[in-house]
Amino acid sequence: MCGICGYIGSSNGVKEVVRGLKILEYRGYDSCGVAFVENGKIDIVKTVGEVDNLKKLTKNMSANVVIGHTRWATHGGVNERNAHPHLSTSGKLAMVHNGIIENYKELKEEFNLNSLSNTDSEVFLNLIDCEKGTLINKVINASKKVQGTFAVLVLGSDGEMVLGKCESPLYLSKVENEVYIASDVLALKGENYFALNDHEFASVKNRKIIFYNKNGEKITKKSEKIEKNSDFSKIFYKTHMESEILETKDVLNKTLKKYKEENIFQNIKLPKKLNSISLIACGTAYHASLMGAEFFKKVGVDARAYLASEFRYGRELLNKNTLYIFVSQSGETADTIASAKMVKERNLPMLALTNMENCLLNRICENVLPTFAGREIAVASTKAYSCQVWSLYLFSLILANKSLPKEDFVKNFAFVNYDDKLVKEVASYKKVFFVGRDLDYITAMEASLKLKEISYINCFAIASGELKHGTLALIDSDAVVIAICTQEKIKSKLKSNLEEIKARGGKVIVVSQFDDFKDFSCVKLSKFDELFMPIVSVIPMQFLALKICELFGYNPDKPRNLAKSVTVE
Ligand code: F6R
Repeated sequence: MCGICGYIGSSNGVKEVVRGLKILEYRGYDSCGVAFVENGKIDIVKTVGEVDNLKKLTKNMSANVVIGHTRWATHGGVNERNAHPHLSTSGKLAMVHNGIIENYKELKEEFNLNSLSNTDSEVFLNLIDCEKGTLINKVINASKKVQGTFAVLVLGSDGEMVLGKCESPLYLSKVENEVYIASDVLALKGENYFALNDHEFASVKNRKIIFYNKNGEKITKKSEKIEKNSDFSKIFYKTHMESEILETKDVLNKTLKKYKEENIFQNIKLPKKLNSISLIACGTAYHASLMGAEFFKKVGVDARAYLASEFRYGRELLNKNTLYIFVSQSGETADTIASAKMVKERNLPMLALTNMENCLLNRICENVLPTFAGREIAVASTKAYSCQVWSLYLFSLILANKSLPKEDFVKNFAFVNYDDKLVKEVASYKKVFFVGRDLDYITAMEASLKLKEISYINCFAIASGELKHGTLALIDSDAVVIAICTQEKIKSKLKSNLEEIKARGGKVIVVSQFDDFKDFSCVKLSKFDELFMPIVSVIPMQFLALKICELFGYNPDKPRNLAKSVTVE
C-alpha cells in the first residue's frame, strides 16, 4: 500500500519518478505527488487521483533530485493536503511514507509537534526534523521513537536523501551515476538492486549511497540481480484483469514446467516427521489455502487453512511436525508477514508460496515454493490465484509420492466465458448468492469476493447444505443463486438444494461440467480430473465479476478502497 519512488542523477528526475509511480500505481491510486529541490528550496506538486494527473501537471518540470509517492489512504481522507510528499514545518525536509505510525497521537503531544501535523506521516516527518545532527542521524533517531511500520524517503533542501524501513519494502539501484529508489524492484532501472532490511537506512548524496544499521554504523550490502518480468508491458486487452485471466493457461503450464526443470519440489525442506500442514493467508490467497488444505487431506496429510489476521493473534498450538505454508501473491501482506515472523521466532518449519521473487515473505521463510504467474497488475487476483491452487495441488501429488502431470495437461482446458445475456441478468438482481459443496464451496467464496470487490454488489457465498439453516429466508424473486457443481459425489445433493431455491422464486444458474442440470440456466465447463476442476470453474466466475464491473462502468483494474499489496494491518 502506497508506492515510493526516488531519483538522484543527471536526467530529468521528475519524469523518472513519475514513470516509477505509474508502475507502482497498483500499490495505491487515490492521490500522488512529487517533491524536488530547486535552488536550495523544496517544491512540491500533489494531486488527487491517478498518476496520469500528476504526469500532466509536471510535464514541463525538471529536477535532478526528486522523491514521489502514490497513496492508498490509511490515516486522513483522500485530498491534496493529505497526499504525499509532506513538507516539514521548517520547510527544510520533505518526506514520503508507506506504512502506519501507530503512536503518532502520543508523539504529537510528547514532542509538541505543530498542530498542522494531521496525519501519522506528518508527525513522523516533523519528529525527524526536530532531531539533532545529520539527516541520517535524525532519521535513525526518530525511527526509534515510532511504533508501527514504515518505509520512508526523506529529502533535505540540500539535495540529500535518506531512506529507511521497518516492515514496508524499499529498494535501490545504481546505474552509473544515477540512483533509483522504489517500493518495488519493478520500478527500478539497472541490472542489480539493494534491498534494505528492517531497521537499515541509507543516505544518498552526490549520487553516492552509504548504508547504515540502526545504531548509525556504516554497513556494506550485497546487491542482487534484478529479474524483470517481461510480461509487464504485454497488455493485449482492454484491462489488465482480462489479460491476466486469459494468461491462466500459460502460467499454469509455465509453473509446471519450471517445477520439473528446476526440481523445485525436491529443494523444499520438510519437517523430519510431517504430521500436518497449516496454510496461512489473506483474501484470495486464503481461498487458495482452503483449497490446498483439501488437496493435502485427500492424500492423507492433515491440513488446515487460517486467515493470517486471525492466526497472528490466535492461540494455535504450534509444533515442529507441522509445515507452515504462507501463501501470498505479493509476499508483502502485513498479516501474513506478522504470522510468518511469529512462526520463525519459534524456529518451526515454514514455506513461502509466493509469486514475487524478491519479496519479504521469501526472505523470512527462506524455504520457498514460487508460483510463476508473472506480474499481476489488476488489483483483483485471478491468474495468481489459479497458480496458487495449481501449486498446492502439485505439492499434494509430491507428498503422495505421485508423479507430476505431463506438461500438456492443461492444454485442453477450454476457457469458458459468461454469455452477455446471463451477465446482464445477474447484474439486475438485488441479491446474489454463490453456493457449492466441498471444493465448490471454496470456489463459491472466491467467486463472491471477486464480484463484490470490483462490482460493489453485496453478495455472499454459502455452503449449499447450509441454505436450509437460515439463509433460505432471503431467497425470493429478487435473488439469483449461482451454483457451482464440479464434484460427482455432491451432484444429487446440490440438485435438491437448487430445487428448494427455485420453489421460492429464486433464479438459479449452474456452473458445471455435468449434464444433469437441464432445468436451470447453465454455464458448461470442460471436463477434467475433479481435483483440477476448481481451476476450471473459477475462470467463468472471474469473467462474471469482470463483465458486471464493466457493465456498471467501473474500472476493474483499480477497484475502490483496495490496493494490490496490503502492507498495513
Ligand atoms: C482479492 C485480492 C486480495 C488478496 C489479499 C492477499 O482479489 O487480491 O484478497 O488476495 O489481499 O494478498 P497477497 O496474496 O498478496 O498476500
